[in-house]
Amino acid sequence: MPISAFGQALLDGLQDPPGSPARYFEMRPPNGQALRMRTQDFLACRREEVALLGELTKPFSASRQPAVLDVGCGAGRHLKVIREHAPHALCVGVERCPGLRDYCAATVGTPNGFFASLDALPEQAFDLILLVGNGLGIFGDAEPARAGVRQLLGRLRPSGKLVLETGHVRDSGYSVDEFTVCYQDQADAPYRWGRAGPGWIEALAADNGYHVMFRPSQAPGGGFFFAILSAGTD
Ligand SMILES: C[S@@+](CC[C@H](N)C(=O)[O-])C[C@H]1O[C@@H](n2cnc3c(N)ncnc32)[C@H](O)[C@@H]1O
Repeated sequence: MPISAFGQALLDGLQDPPGSPARYFEMRPPNGQALRMRTQDFLACRREEVALLGELTKPFSASRQPAVLDVGCGAGRHLKVIREHAPHALCVGVERCPGLRDYCAATVGTPNGFFASLDALPEQAFDLILLVGNGLGIFGDAEPARAGVRQLLGRLRPSGKLVLETGHVRDSGYSVDEFTVCYQDQADAPYRWGRAGPGWIEALAADNGYHVMFRPSQAPGGGFFFAILSAGTD
């Protein structure tokens, strides 16, 4: 079964007994210093993430099944928090790593559905779409990122919200890093990871007729933020 270096790092981390030493993977740029990333940071939500997801699920109705989509869901840490706040929600994830998809399907709780790509996603509108864990990055360059966000906005129910996390760029800038994720003896293919500034997100939201609200993110390294896009002003 093909498993990415990132996926293997997370799946190994999930087996670690409590109190084990920290486990790391590396993000290696073509030139320059590798960045060491702590696997644990992708296995549990931080306090401000739990609070934000709690707020976003509050308007969910008890009489109609809410639907939540997490794009690039990893080990499903955000969907598990959604499940706690809204046990009746349909939790859907898009994740290219098969091992992580299988893990999520077994642990996120039903009803759920996990798919390898956005193209494989069945017709379904969502109350909440997550592109978090620095998730905007999965679209790579600026143009695919604009198109990807537009495609996701098209999947929202009228009162739905899209939450994305990005950062480390000022104003209306957009920047792309290339790096290779390495873990033990495995290396993923080189990856182009995009990052946007708040002005870039505001312009994209306005182009699509959406409002945007910002929240600070405490993601390791600092400089990240959440942007919450909605058709209304609330
Ligand atoms: C930085 S991780 C974040 C994971 C998760 N959202 C979290 O915060 O823990 C990005 C995830 O997106 C997945 N991914 C990257 N590109 C993807 C793509 N094009 N389609 C689906 N999943 C993708 C990766 O395998 C990885 O699990």
